[in-house]
Amino acid sequence: MRRDNIILVGFMGAGKSVCGRLLAHRLGRCFVETDDMIVASEGRSIPEIFREAGEERFRQLEAEALEALKLKSGEIIATGGGLPCREGRMELLRELGTVVWLDGDVRELHARASHIGNRPMLDGRSIGEIDDYLAWLQNSNNSFRPRLCNEFEWERAARGADGREYSHGNVISRGDANYVEAYGKSVATAGPDEIGSHPWSRSPYGIHDMCGNVAEFTQSSLKTEEFVLRGGGYADGPNEIRSSNRQPVSPEFRSLATGLRLCADLK
Ligand code: S3P
Repeated sequence: MRRDNIILVGFMGAGKSVCGRLLAHRLGRCFVETDDMIVASEGRSIPEIFREAGEERFRQLEAEALEALKLKSGEIIATGGGLPCREGRMELLRELGTVVWLDGDVRELHARASHIGNRPMLDGRSIGEIDDYLAWLQNSNNSFRPRLCNEFEWERAARGADGREYSHGNVISRGDANYVEAYGKSVATAGPDEIGSHPWSRSPYGIHDMCGNVAEFTQSSLKTEEFVLRGGGYADGPNEIRSSNRQPVSPEFRSLATGLRLCADLK
């Protein structure tokens, strides 16, 4: 069977749906999206699938959608952004027709997708998911036992012992760190930066990004079983990114502006 489909792939926010629709209209062809196929077969939205059944189930559904695409020919197909990323899937897509990659500036695509919303992959990770990751790490064969840092450890690493307000001193200005002043409030540019992008704000121990960029999960040093965000994120102001600032959060809390720094004990 001739499978002269055109398959659009690309990061979330690259415009696969918009371009796919326009192209289909112009060429007089049918347009189909793998995300729509999944939503239709499951009878629930993608955020619901992630919430109720987890990412792994969603990836399984993508594999089933890919299987169903083998019946198509001459169509314009837009895949979900993460679909081609699993082993062997790009090869399967190539067998369906011509694969076109819609590229763009990652920071901008990321900001666009976050702005549109409804993207579970951009919601960050909850403490429960972090625990799964830690359990996996702990079972891997190394001489350390990684764990969440407690607040005392985190704060000492962030500001040393001299009582400074921020990791690099008492004053913060635009450019020192990734906080609300860094890129203004523009949704097109605000977001997490690659670690080490703001070396000026290194801590006394040379540790990067302990103020701004993403707020970091720690284990509360005041209440057992409580988690606290420290360090503030890219959208926070100069007060929230002080080394002493703390924001208790529930174990279910998820946000794009959170991250994780691990402490470890020797086994
Ligand atoms: C995902 C991208 C989304 C959607 C799902 C997961 C990903 O598609 O399939 O939320 O893993 O990158 P879009 O690229 O259309 O946003």
